[in-house]
Amino acid sequence: MKRRRFLGNMLAAGVAVGVAHVCARECKKIPASGAGPMKPLANPPLTNDLTRRHPDGPEAVGHKITLMGRVTDQNCVPLAYAEIILWQACATGMYDHPNEDRAEWRDPNFCYEGRTITDSEGRYLFHTVLPGSYPVPGKADKERGLVAFRAPHIHFTVSVPGQRTFTSQILFDLYNDINKFDLVMYGKEQQERDLLTARVEPAEEGQPMLCHFDMVI
Ligand SMILES: [Fe+2]
Repeated sequence: MKRRRFLGNMLAAGVAVGVAHVCARECKKIPASGAGPMKPLANPPLTNDLTRRHPDGPEAVGHKITLMGRVTDQNCVPLAYAEIILWQACATGMYDHPNEDRAEWRDPNFCYEGRTITDSEGRYLFHTVLPGSYPVPGKADKERGLVAFRAPHIHFTVSVPGQRTFTSQILFDLYNDINKFDLVMYGKEQQERDLLTARVEPAEEGQPMLCHFDMVI
């Protein structure tokens, strides 16, 4: 009898553990990635709207997106008041940076860098545009006739007091077909790419697309 009760208790415990496991949110640390040569030279202004340079000025060109999510640790604990710095190319794939050596058209109305602070629940949000892809001719494999390019992506850092600044970048799932050939992502496991890829929701005509990306650091 005692043994049966013991097994019953064990089963009950097992079910409880199973339920807890099923209900638990998964917070897998995202891979770090280098900042690249276009990292802001100084702290960008504290603005999460990159779609125009002045509140009443003209809008940047390109598909508008709202990039949003949460910053958490690997236990899914939200990191409140973390500082996020973000930088990216405009819709034509150009940066506004001294290291940008290409001479293509760059959007004069786009803010190429932004900064925000997560709220008390670790949430963040940026209004921006889908960045363009760009070639990296210096990395082309000429012997094999292969071009090198960057798929559309956004760079970011997250700073939490008392921790080292975390640096990585975000791709977009609507470009999954080309993401796997991206210069930085090429050769990485699909699972690793997935952790760096925002989920994009289609939008109504004229509305920004919602891009969901949790920064688990
Ligand atoms: Fe880049």
